Amino acid sequence: MDRPFGNYILHERVGIGGMGEVFRATKHGPDGFVVQVALKVILPHLAHEETFRKRFSREARLAASLTHPNIVQVIDFNIIDETPFIEMEFVAGTDLRRLLRSLTQGELLSLDESLGILYAVSRGLDHAHRHTVSGNTAGGIIHCDLNPHNILISNLGETKVADFGIARAMHGDATASATVRGKLAYMSPEQIEGRELDLRTDLFSLGIIAYQLLSGVHPFERGSEAATIAAIGKAEHLPLSDKTPGLPPPLYNLVEKLLELDPASRPDSAAASLEILQPLVSPGAGNTLADRVRSTGSGKKYTAGLVQDASPTAATIHRKGISYFWKPLVPGAFGAAFIVLVFLLLTGPAPDQPQAPAVTGTVSAPAAEPPSVESPALERTLVIQTVPPGARITGDGITPGITPLAITMSADVPRPHLEASLYGFYKESFQVPPGTEDSFIVNLEPLPTGTVRISARPWARVSFRGQDIGETPVFIEKVPVGEHALTLSYDPLEVEKRVLIEVKEGTNTVSVEMREGP
Ligand SMILES: Nc1ncnc2c1ncn2[C@@H]1O[C@H](COP(=O)(O)OP(=O)(O)O)[C@@H](O)[C@H]1O
Ligand SMILES: [Mg+2]
Repeated sequence: MDRPFGNYILHERVGIGGMGEVFRATKHGPDGFVVQVALKVILPHLAHEETFRKRFSREARLAASLTHPNIVQVIDFNIIDETPFIEMEFVAGTDLRRLLRSLTQGELLSLDESLGILYAVSRGLDHAHRHTVSGNTAGGIIHCDLNPHNILISNLGETKVADFGIARAMHGDATASATVRGKLAYMSPEQIEGRELDLRTDLFSLGIIAYQLLSGVHPFERGSEAATIAAIGKAEHLPLSDKTPGLPPPLYNLVEKLLELDPASRPDSAAASLEILQPLVSPGAGNTLADRVRSTGSGKKYTAGLVQDASPTAATIHRKGISYFWKPLVPGAFGAAFIVLVFLLLTGPAPDQPQAPAVTGTVSAPAAEPPSVESPALERTLVIQTVPPGARITGDGITPGITPLAITMSADVPRPHLEASLYGFYKESFQVPPGTEDSFIVNLEPLPTGTVRISARPWARVSFRGQDIGETPVFIEKVPVGEHALTLSYDPLEVEKRVLIEVKEGTNTVSVEMREGP
């Protein structure tokens, strides 16, 4: 699926997150110059927000100033065809979450592998935490979203931390970020409580990852997301020494210190972690990891230095054909471009439009993704994602919800038929294919749009999708094709009318007489 994008060619998608999609891409220069990079393409609804873009470019600029072997290099932040994106070093390999999932039940990475990863992550963190840039008063750069998704492991056995500062860019301040990103299970207690954060928030997340690597279980994993969050809030966990006896004693001390509830009781920098890990790390750890990444591949095949998705954990479907459209209720009386049906607001419920925000506004914030802790063996949780997120999922036997949406089903039950609906996009019917691992992604295709010009006699106030648009004559731009309802009110006569319009591409004209009956 190669697709040109400026002077890049987008190849396969290697992942999808709360902010956008990540592609392997090649950048093409003069005289056949080609270099492989990763592009994180920002979701359209975020891309169009001016404040987000400003914040985002600032964080990307900070992140780009970090150069370290254990940090995924940010190369550029740019905009092509109104699409902002981050160009990064492409790490051919896998991420830690996929690597852990490729283990069989009860299997752990070897101690050497785990220590190698933890040492590398600590080095990356330490570098970023110490990094000062003029203009960045906060001192170093805090990650705020350190979790196994953001730890990339290459086919050569290198460990690199991705997405420094991105969590902050998502929300301006770091505190709310994890709720958006959904990696709740790796947040620190102070982050959960929305308190001010410093670099020690990353040290707590490092502690969780260390505990998980060394014991095979997440220290705060409980039956439900709420219980997990409550446990993190109290930093309540079984000591690592009880869970996994026989490890070098300094490791227990380190992990318990990192997992201290009070940031002041944690080490004050990642250097403490380096000091303890350094004498324990084996020089061969990278090679063992390289072998593991290449052999398990975590769904990826290694071919001539390029990664190809052989059996991606996230299945994707593309919309084929138009799955629905509205039919006009009466033929147009004013010409082919528009059809107007007027009736009193008092009558009838609103048409069954997907519940979503306004025309020119943004898509509502997606519900938080569930924590990345594993679910019990028979009941499995599948996360339905949509691009863009925020779609309503309905279907037999599931509680409807907004994407990203976790649905739980038992492994032996047939997959339900589901439907995704999002304002401005074609409705999508789908069924999750058997064998889908942990998430299923539905690409929604935007509906074409038209402009609606509304006039009324003598005049009227117009409201559309709950928003006051103003007094006629008014234009509403970028209205998705299909049927929509407008409410017009003419105060002098206390008349309110609800108007159904069938919007087509191009300009649609609506004129309404407010002084007559329906
Ligand atoms: N620079 C990169 N090189 C290779 N793969 C990457 C890179 N950045 C991200 N990925 C992959 O894409 C996935 C999605 O990334 P991202 O959008 O940051 O979401 P998340 O971190 O929540 O998974 C990652 O989990 C990882 O597997
Ligand atoms: Mg990431």
